[in-house]
This record gives sequence, structure tokens and C-alpha cells, in this order.
Amino acid sequence: MSATELRIDLGRFRKDVEALASIGRDPTGGISRPAWSPAHEEGRAWLLAQLRAAGLAARVDPAGNVFGRLGEGTPVVMTGSHIDTVPRGGPLDGALGVLAGLECLRAIAASGTRPARALEVAAFTDEEGRFYGFFGSRAMTGSLDPRLAERLTDPAGLALPEAMRRAGFDLARAPEARRATQEIAAYVELHIEQGPWLETESLPIGVVEGIVGIRRFRLTFVGQPDHAGTTPMDRRKDAFLTAAEYATKSRELVVRGGEGRAVTTIGVVDVRPGVSNIVPERAALLQELRDPEPAVLERLAARTLQAARRVARRRGLILETEHLMRAEPVRMSPRIQAVIEAAAAHLGLPTRRMPSGAGHDAQVLAAVTDAGMIFVPSQGGRSHRPDEWTDWPALERGANVLLGTLLRLAG
Ligand code: GLV
Ligand code: MN
Ligand code: MN
Repeated sequence: MSATELRIDLGRFRKDVEALASIGRDPTGGISRPAWSPAHEEGRAWLLAQLRAAGLAARVDPAGNVFGRLGEGTPVVMTGSHIDTVPRGGPLDGALGVLAGLECLRAIAASGTRPARALEVAAFTDEEGRFYGFFGSRAMTGSLDPRLAERLTDPAGLALPEAMRRAGFDLARAPEARRATQEIAAYVELHIEQGPWLETESLPIGVVEGIVGIRRFRLTFVGQPDHAGTTPMDRRKDAFLTAAEYATKSRELVVRGGEGRAVTTIGVVDVRPGVSNIVPERAALLQELRDPEPAVLERLAARTLQAARRVARRRGLILETEHLMRAEPVRMSPRIQAVIEAAAAHLGLPTRRMPSGAGHDAQVLAAVTDAGMIFVPSQGGRSHRPDEWTDWPALERGANVLLGTLLRLAG
């Protein structure tokens, strides 16, 4: 059989998706497999066993990234994604790219085809940013900031170095995961779209043109704790109400100044002392801003911070700001986009080029190599929730486009 006629084995791939989805099942719904947690470590051990059973050379690097390799020599053609999840996440975000990558390498190995270049499948650590978004891919590409890493915590206050230690890793050694740029000839990642457009347009395959940039910061409004019954309203410095006033203001700013694409989310609000009969003294917001245009993102970040300072000043509060994460908007490689389109056309599948509003390891890899992404439709556009799903025929189509793309890239 010629390499272009090779297809993935849906039954084998499906067994893997179901097996990984059973690790980290959350009793309250969905899958909770956050980076460095025991469930994540169980997922890593399971993945290593599958890579070895497939005859791939498997290893874990000091940043916790897992690799499976077929063939020898460099540079390699790499695929992959992540096996960490958001709390109560779905079975496909990240897992799809890793398990489809594993299945592609297994299908190639079983066929006896030997591409000119070695192929690697990777599962990168903490893509979701429980502590430090894209930790693993940043470590591998040399863009990890060890000083920032030392002080990051998860939303519950657990420090990253301690979480790594519990999982048997040492933060100080994470930079050793760095690989030379010339070692990676190309990176291509299969992922669910996580939005509504492919389904709306009845298209099976999306070819990602670019990925949004992300700014994540913590804004803490500091007022005064006072008696909630005896302090007149005009004498209070209520941190929560000031934060709430800012939150609605920042939404307006982003909707008005974001050219229809920018989004902002305040996903964590921490109010202290946190009882109903004390006026809140501190309110900390964890906020994200995203936009595909660097200039727009920069402008919105400056305006929202300015608005926060203005609201705090007007209400007589102090504002503390902390920048927690910054990822630049990137363009995907035109060469990889064309290869994905050729692989899809060979399978008779129509495609459309589209942006990604979600962050992906591909945006970190894009700094060091030609990177591209393949999207498959998400049912109802749902993701980062337990009922995230894509049906098996759609997943099979995506995995076969990945296979065709890898074979073309690896020669
Ligand atoms: C990752 O899923 C992100 O976009 O936050
Ligand atoms: Mn993902
Ligand atoms: Mn995600």
C-alpha cells in the first residue's frame, strides 16, 4: 500500500480516547486532570505505556513533557498537544491531538512505511495554565521564565514548585527540557475547534491561520474592612463593589474597542475577609484579555488597566496589579497550511481557513519552527465543559488529515 492510502484504525484510536477519558473522572461531572495533579500523573503513566506498547521510543523530559518517537535522526516532524485538562473539562481538548498523534505513528509503524524524517508525538505540560500556561512547550523552546515560575500558584494557592515536587519533578531542572531549534523541522497539532463555526458551516476541517494573543493579570482592589451594619454607605471603601464597577467597565471597553474580535474574561474573584458582615477589604480579580492583533491587544490591555486605576482612585481604594501570563498572537506557517489543505483534498474533505480564539502549544512552537493546526468541528461549539464532544466519524476524518499531513512533511 502506498503511504498516501494509509488510514488510521478508528477502533484502536477510540479505545485510547475512552481509556484516557476514564482517568481523572470528576465525581461532580467531566474530567479534572490538572497539570501536576495525581490524575495527571496517572494519565502520563498510562500514555507512556501506550507509547511503548506501540513500539515507539518513549521518554519524559525534566519539564514533564512526554515524547514518543518513530525513526532516528534530526530534525524531526512533531505532532501532539496536551493531556492536562481544565477543572470539569471534556474528553477531547488536548487528548485528541496526543492520541491521534499516537495513532498516526502507530499506523505508520505498522504499515512498514519509513518516512525520511523521524516523527515524534508530544504531550506538553500545563497547556491549560493551572500554574503557567504552555509550561512544557515553553520549556522545550527555551521561552520559560524561571523567576515567574517560582512565584506562580494555582487558584487555590498551591505553589508551582511544590506541585512539581509532589509529582516527582524539580522546577530548577525544567530549563534542561530545552531542545535546539534545528531539531524540529515542523509542528502540526490536531485539535477540536472549541467554537461554533465549522459546525455552523457544515465543514469537516479547519485550517488555522493564526492564534490569539493572551494577557492574564491579577487586579487586587484594596479598601477597608468595616462593620457591615453600622458603616454608612458613603463612608465605605468596599473592594468588591469597586471591582464589580471596574468589571462591567472593562467589558464595555473591550466590546467597544475590540473591533468585534477581542474578548475578556474574569474567571476568578477572591473577596476577603469573605464573610457577609464585614465590608470586603480586598477583592482580587483574575482577568484574561485575548485578541489576534498585537496592536489591539496592547491597546486594550493598557486601557483596561487605566480604567481599573481610575475606578480605584475615584472610590479611594488602592490597586495592585500583577502580570501573570503573556502569549503573543501568532500566524501559522503558510507552508503547513498548504500541506494540510493538500492532505484534506486528497481525502475529498473541504476546508476553511480560520483563526483560533483558544490558546495552543502550536503558538509557542511557532516561535522556533513552521507550525500549523487542524481543527475538527465541536458539537454546539462547546468546550471547557463536561459535554464537549465531536462524533467519531469527524474525529476519524481529522486524524486521517493529520496522518496525511505528517507523511507529507516527513517525506
Ligand atoms: C486553552 O484552552 C485556552 O485557550 O485557555
Ligand atoms: Mn487544548
Ligand atoms: Mn483548553
